[in-house]
Amino acid sequence: MKTDILLGLQWGDEGKGKVVDVLAPQYEIVARFQGGPNAGHTLEIQGKKHVLHTIPSGIFHNKIMNVIGNGVVIDPISFVEEVKGIEALGIDICKRLILSKRAHLILPTHRLLDASSEALKGKEKIGSTLKGIGPAYMDKTGRNGLRVGDMLEKDFAARYASLSGKHQQMLALAKYEYDRKAFEESEKKWMECVNFIRTMMIMDTEYFLNDALKAGKKILAEGAQGSLLDIDFGSYPFVTSSSTTCAGACIGLGIAPRNIGEVEGVFKAYCTRVGSGPFPTELLDDIGEKIAQIGREFGSTTGRKRRCGWLDLPALKRAIMLNGVTRLDMMKIDVLNEFEEVKVCTHYMVDGKQTDQLPYNLSTEIKPVYKSFKGWGKLPDISSYDKMPAELKEYIQYIEKAVEVPIKLLSVGPDRSQTLIR
Ligand code: GDP
Ligand code: IMO
Ligand code: MG
Repeated sequence: MKTDILLGLQWGDEGKGKVVDVLAPQYEIVARFQGGPNAGHTLEIQGKKHVLHTIPSGIFHNKIMNVIGNGVVIDPISFVEEVKGIEALGIDICKRLILSKRAHLILPTHRLLDASSEALKGKEKIGSTLKGIGPAYMDKTGRNGLRVGDMLEKDFAARYASLSGKHQQMLALAKYEYDRKAFEESEKKWMECVNFIRTMMIMDTEYFLNDALKAGKKILAEGAQGSLLDIDFGSYPFVTSSSTTCAGACIGLGIAPRNIGEVEGVFKAYCTRVGSGPFPTELLDDIGEKIAQIGREFGSTTGRKRRCGWLDLPALKRAIMLNGVTRLDMMKIDVLNEFEEVKVCTHYMVDGKQTDQLPYNLSTEIKPVYKSFKGWGKLPDISSYDKMPAELKEYIQYIEKAVEVPIKLLSVGPDRSQTLIR
């Protein structure tokens, strides 16, 4: 059996959590492969909203095992809070959730280092979620990090103290001031949460996942963030610190490329971005504001307002190319219902030349070239694609032709039920 991958093709928040929840019944295992509590994946089930940060979005299905892969970074405090929140709903989460021994840990000092780094950057700051993601991945690649499996070793406390001490020296060098008392309390809480995690299922998940594939089980790999935030291919340095593209699923789970099946790319019918960095089709006018209001474009993790703009086809095509996307999911179509005109960026003008490739430096002056579509108005019931308004079909067909990948799922509202699968 193969592993299918589901990932975001824009700047995150495309609606990945919703789609994973909708598709999960077709799988036996859902596995997160990168990112950490910077993610906020929203699921709406029978009118009730749930936001997941580190826990995979298959958690609300009772027959599905959920795996947090080695590529994820875990903050014990926010993770245990999330676990308790789900337990409070009467779900026996510890029976459905497995953690990789190789996943790295976010320390309280990683969060302080994240804040310190942003403060030093001043106006140039990345707009990080301040969850300690960058510093935790830096310790991973710098070969200093602590992993979930280390919690089970006798010298864990000493190793923690050594790494935390090193971080505190770095904070002192940067002259970063922080509340010592609050920090000491967070360290205490962190250790309590580590003790709780020790009681959970901790495994060499690469064996668990590959054994499952051999046994004919289907796995869905769930990405966090989006391709334009990828450490290599995103709008660097305004990116996150992990590989958000398809290759990240192989590294972040221990699954070989030949065991990958479908690659499902999720995108909004328009674009959003939260945090700093270039955004060629950003709308700084009333239209952008209207999309933000109707789409309730506020970050699921930080509550920050998301910047909004029209769909960017050059960026979408590049993400499809990098990921080898085989099918597409178009989200938040309903948000554009009220617009009389909907636009799509088909090309850019860079240095007076028309191109559909993203320049190396996205911050250079890029003038988007738009194609205009007539709005589709109110949507009928979503029981069949045939019933969809002709204007919407035209919009969809144009995108499919331009990107050469079929759009298989249409989402017209946040709830599980507001989904049309073609
Ligand atoms: P993720 O990070 O990719 O999982 O996406 P987020 O959960 O951060 O952001 C997507 C937001 O849009 C959430 O608030 C969802 O509930 C909501 N959403 C998802 N699909 C739709 C849709 O088709 N229509 C509308 N109006 N909202 C949607
Ligand atoms: P999901 O999985 C949207 C953005 C931050 C910031 C940059 C770096 O919900 O789609 P980081 O904290 O990772 O160092 O921040 O990346 N960012 C996201 N934007 N959705 C996300 O996740 C994001 N995770 C990080 O806003 O610009
Ligand atoms: Mg999100």
